[in-house]
Amino acid sequence: MSEHALDSNGRLRHLITLEGLGRQHIEDLLDRACELRLAFADGACGPQLLRGRTIVNLFFEASTRTRSSFELAARRLGATVLNFEMSSSSTSKGETLEDTLATLEAMQADAFVVRHRENGTPERLARHAKRAAVLNAGDGNHAHPTQGLLDALTIRDRHPDFSRLKVTLCGDIRHSRVARSDLHVLGALGTGEIRLCGPAALMPPVDEFPGCRVFEDFDDALSGSDVLIMLRLQRERMAEALVSDEAEYFRRFGLTSERLRHAAPEALVMHPGPMNRGIEIAADVADGPQSVILEQVSNGIPVRMAALASLLGA
Ligand code: CP
Repeated sequence: MSEHALDSNGRLRHLITLEGLGRQHIEDLLDRACELRLAFADGACGPQLLRGRTIVNLFFEASTRTRSSFELAARRLGATVLNFEMSSSSTSKGETLEDTLATLEAMQADAFVVRHRENGTPERLARHAKRAAVLNAGDGNHAHPTQGLLDALTIRDRHPDFSRLKVTLCGDIRHSRVARSDLHVLGALGTGEIRLCGPAALMPPVDEFPGCRVFEDFDDALSGSDVLIMLRLQRERMAEALVSDEAEYFRRFGLTSERLRHAAPEALVMHPGPMNRGIEIAADVADGPQSVILEQVSNGIPVRMAALASLLGA
């Protein structure tokens, strides 16, 4: 985590990555998300912590879950939300992102939620911001911190003691920003064992996650796992087609109900979405009793409320 992500009092100023963020910061954000989840339960009108504040969504890449949940989180907390439209903005006339940010900051934007296909864009904008907070909503294969936090919250709801858990991530880990943020948060929370599984071509460099056990055989990785995080093939980030036969990929790495029996009883099935049914996960598993995929989606709102409120000192 770069130093400018914290202010002089050690408070989070921007949320760019979970790497290097201490366990206490992470637990504070998760605790705050739990409080806000309770305060807004069953459609209740919870605290309007962001009344009078303006949040700008700057999404340069497609999104369903992250964009919608940041918008709902901000609106439910009483903020004004501006969904910046790239195609009709002056970025299409060559304006730099820094100038766009400065222009919107001059209109008293308080926070920017940034998604971009290039690693480092949210960090770059955070360095440029004078007053506003920048929240990374996913950059390239680098980081997706709020996804990491909502995944941790979803696990913590069922298993508060991470030291007892075996967590397996399976799929295209090499191109996944979700995997990186999950690995950072799972490490910070003291997860007992983290397993990575997938074809060799889709594994991260060997020294990137030294504490993890790497498996090429999915049944071996599944054995005794308490949590399974399935990842899609991120073809948009592959320079070449690294998996040509999806049926063969599903046969080796797809999570089926038969395979799931190798995992611990009642193991949690997770997926950050978007899902490709029949490629990394069978439809009946995605919709089955062990799936918490829609809980992950629901938890995205209080996690993003907590992140916005904390960064804005509310
Ligand atoms: N999990 C996730 O980032 O989904 P979206 O791309 O739909 O935001």
